[in-house]
Amino acid sequence: MIHGKARNVIITGTGHAVPTRVLSNFDLEKMVDTSDEWIRTRTGILRRRVADEHTATSDLAAEAGRLALKDAGVSPEELDLIIVATITPDMLFPSTSCLVQKNLEAWGAACYDLSAGCSGLIYGLDMAVHSIASGAYQRALVIGADCISKVLNFQDRSTCVLFGDGAGACLLEAADQAGVLASRLGADGRGWDKLLLRGGGSRHPASPATLAAGWHYIEMCGNDVFKFAVRIMVEASLQVLADAGLQPEDIDLFIPHQANIRIIESAAQRLNLTEDQVYVNLDEYGNTSAASIGIALDEAVRSGRIKGGDRVLLVGFGAGLTWGAMIIEWVEKA
Ligand code: COA
Repeated sequence: MIHGKARNVIITGTGHAVPTRVLSNFDLEKMVDTSDEWIRTRTGILRRRVADEHTATSDLAAEAGRLALKDAGVSPEELDLIIVATITPDMLFPSTSCLVQKNLEAWGAACYDLSAGCSGLIYGLDMAVHSIASGAYQRALVIGADCISKVLNFQDRSTCVLFGDGAGACLLEAADQAGVLASRLGADGRGWDKLLLRGGGSRHPASPATLAAGWHYIEMCGNDVFKFAVRIMVEASLQVLADAGLQPEDIDLFIPHQANIRIIESAAQRLNLTEDQVYVNLDEYGNTSAASIGIALDEAVRSGRIKGGDRVLLVGFGAGLTWGAMIIEWVEKA
């Protein structure tokens, strides 16, 4: 049972959705001065999915949410909380979670969005765990969803090769069994300018000048984020392992945020994790931001890589700067 938690909370369903359109490294070679070889060796990414002009974040989020509900055997009316973690909401307001609620017809659910960059899913899971553990809520749907392609400058090779679109969802409920063993969140706002989308908010409202400056696109200090990511993935993992009284070797599957294979390998090496303890799918999807850990978790469960009793360590980092880590003892569906 985690700190301050009165009831145990388990994930009873997972789901994910990605757009059908595939953008390969070879496609990118035709758009910007890059190469498949550079992208593959520097990031581990081979291809990513990209939403078409008719698809927005709430569409992918609702689809992932619907699949998680189906997986759990829970109907939308039974939900009392929907949290969508995203940095690419359909619009500044209303929240994307309200649009998901409308799509799912989950009329009994309170809804809010959460902005924690690529740590978003873990932030959402942590909020849902505490909301359910307190007894205030019974069933929460947490969705990490982003269409980063919509805010990428496809002339900027330092960012456009890294990201893809998608959504990953988890349904959480109270339970007698173990479930979430430990969870930690953190942030350092001093790193706010390492990864950002500058324009369109109240600091720099959208205008012809912000458009001309390209402030509707992602900006990133890649090297700084890289160093931060390796350090914080290790620190956050060790912290949450200590909270749960576990060692790295007790972990059956490590699901890190899927940003760059070199970041994942450095962190795994420092944690003394073996290759088969680490889940990687960034070759297929690139960095799907708040969706990445949710997509990986759903794939791992559905492919049998996670079984009842397994201990799973999730760890993420992202814009803010933010980070989060969580250990779950997986409970098989009855
Ligand atoms: N294709 C070809 N060359 C590229 C390129 C691309 N897509 N992107 C950058 N380069 C070039 C640079 O211009 C630079 O050239 P120069 O030496 O002539 O100046 C060279 O490659 C090396 O650039 P550098 O930025 O040092 O590369 P890197 O090894 O640090 O890799 C990232 C860059 C972005 C892949 C890496 O820093 C990274 O993954 N950072 C973390 C990003 C991240 O995870 N963001 C999301 C957080 S949630």
